[in-house]
Amino acid sequence: MLVLALAACGAGSPPPASAPAPGDGMPHRFERADQWAKVFDAPDRDTWQRPDAVIALLALAPEMTVADVGAGTGYFTVRLARAVPRGQVIATDIEPDMVRYLGERAAREHLGNVRAVLATADDPALEPSSVDRILVVDVWHHVADRRGYAVGLARALRPGGTIAIVDFTASATRGPPRPHRLAPETVIADLAAAGLDAKLATATLPEQYVVLGTKPAT
Ligand SMILES: C[S@@+](CC[C@H](N)C(=O)[O-])C[C@H]1O[C@@H](n2cnc3c(N)ncnc32)[C@H](O)[C@@H]1O
Repeated sequence: MLVLALAACGAGSPPPASAPAPGDGMPHRFERADQWAKVFDAPDRDTWQRPDAVIALLALAPEMTVADVGAGTGYFTVRLARAVPRGQVIATDIEPDMVRYLGERAAREHLGNVRAVLATADDPALEPSSVDRILVVDVWHHVADRRGYAVGLARALRPGGTIAIVDFTASATRGPPRPHRLAPETVIADLAAAGLDAKLATATLPEQYVVLGTKPAT
């Protein structure tokens, strides 16, 4: 399982010749969603992912609109959908097969408040001031122009809205190859550059950190 989890984050890709420069992202395709589902929705994931702790950080209300950016096969999407029964979850991904899978999974699990949306690598495909919360799990290290992407996400947040970025620590036993791991300070700087009040969340996960960015209320 560890091998699969590492592969999920691109450990099978050839290592870069040097540490990535700011603005580099780790290119990786996530085709064949049915195969990735075995990894992203593996039964043991809850033990290290602690989804309830991550979702608690979002301080959701039942009517909120939440974007799950880079939703993959919907591990977090379905949990978010149950947490906002009178709201909506917009699940985005850049892989058409992931978007297909997300839509089919939502229907299969009778989650009528999920909308699966195809995004692009540099456009989150979210309307301005349209979402209360954005969750980005194990995606940020794949984004090539993180600062440009952060601007797009900040634009999509309603005033007072919050984004949570979850990614792997340098010492994690799974995750992308070490040269592609991002320090939390780097993620904080990415969000701050987009005008968000960014900080490290105090909640601890065994393998990951969480950076929160809040859009000023006015
Ligand atoms: C490691 S998976 C994580 C999936 C999901 N967030 C989870 O925690 O199970 C990364 C996902 O992000 C998607 N992705 C990569 N770059 C993206 C981008 N710029 N915008 C949206 N999705 C992206 C990939 O296609 C892939 O499905």
